[in-house]
Amino acid sequence: MNKSLFITFEGGEGSGKTTQINFLSKYLISKSFKVLITREPGGSEGAESIRKLLVTGTPNRWDVETEALLMYAARRDNFIRLIKPSLNEGKIVISDRFSDSTRVYQGLVGGIPENKINTLHFFCLEEIEPDLTFLLDIDYQDGLSRANSRISNENRFESKGDKFHKLIRKAYLKLASENPSRVHVIDASLSKNQIKLNIFKIIDKYIEKIKNI
Ligand code: TMP
Repeated sequence: MNKSLFITFEGGEGSGKTTQINFLSKYLISKSFKVLITREPGGSEGAESIRKLLVTGTPNRWDVETEALLMYAARRDNFIRLIKPSLNEGKIVISDRFSDSTRVYQGLVGGIPENKINTLHFFCLEEIEPDLTFLLDIDYQDGLSRANSRISNENRFESKGDKFHKLIRKAYLKLASENPSRVHVIDASLSKNQIKLNIFKIIDKYIEKIKNI
């Protein structure tokens, strides 16, 4: 198969996205697919520089509009330099977060109206959306305690407080319910192995479906 595929992983802090992305990448490579893994904010060199501005410092370092603009500046750079060329080469691209993160963090929770985020999205990426999204859903307190056990200075969002993270979980579930054919909600409280198998089942079905198109 040389049809490209754009897969994203979403979820709150400490939901286990990195572990599952690595499992999925190995699984797809074992099936002879070519895979590119990226992350947001970040990925390309320029976007990684912007990432540092976003994930370090005090929670109020940026107001929410500036935060959204920086997220989309990073996203555009990552998209045109890494994601688009890889999709054009027929690769499967797996991104740790993408536009749904902005819709949830800066939109539904941060308060930027949906139409403004849509305008920004169209300006930066036109109509690009992932083919498939896995939302790793976990109790926000369990996720936060996992995330906070990591030693890192990238904790600006983790420091935004319990109420914020509770709303993030709720907003992601709302977004998933509005996009049921693209966004698959995965119970991330299960064992790593069980989560992996649940994701593989969905991927296998999807690949089978697009093979016949
Ligand atoms: P990470 O810890 O998953 O790498 O993501 C960094 C933080 O950035 C995370 O708390 C979510 C936040 N974020 C947004 O607020 N909006 C976005 O568009 C993206 C991509 C991430």
